[in-house]
Amino acid sequence: MNRAVYLGVLVFVVIAGCAKESKKEMTVAERLERGRYLVENVGMCADCHTPMNEMGEPVRENWLQGSPILFKPVFEVPNWADVALPIAGLPNISEENAVSVLETGVYGDNQRLRPPMPQFRLNHEDAVAVVAYLKSLRAE
Ligand code: HEC
Repeated sequence: MNRAVYLGVLVFVVIAGCAKESKKEMTVAERLERGRYLVENVGMCADCHTPMNEMGEPVRENWLQGSPILFKPVFEVPNWADVALPIAGLPNISEENAVSVLETGVYGDNQRLRPPMPQFRLNHEDAVAVVAYLKSLRAE
């Protein structure tokens, strides 16, 4: 094999190897950690879904177990939800619908959650990771 062909083959093998590596499935532990990170540090789900103490901090013992919404819009929003439902253990919604809500904002028969629940647009892998993390938590 001449040198150029040899180098070409080598580069191809290395690139193919990297591409394969990046498609590697996440382990269960990695998926849960990704979900925890997105919930705690990006989506700030606890701001609404966890009750606050008198210091305005989320109560860890009731982590994501649902809470009244503590603020109101400055103008009237007809379908405003006063309560953020519990999401620890996802007691009231199927995993499939929860993934769909986080990916598209829509679930089931063209339904949407009411404001102030944000209309997230997570990618599929991240939505699955968030749902796996929520499922792993103790429901109330
Ligand atoms: C600004 C407040 C707010 C934030 C932040 C928020 N939510 Fe919500 N969420 C709500 C409210 C309010 C509801 C209830 C909506 C309704 O009743 O239609 C809700 C409902 C839900 C539901 C449906 C629960 C059920 O049983 O039907 C899921 C799932 C959910 N939220 C997940 C999340 C996740 C995951 C995050 C973070 C990535 C998040 N929410 C962040 C306010 C919020």
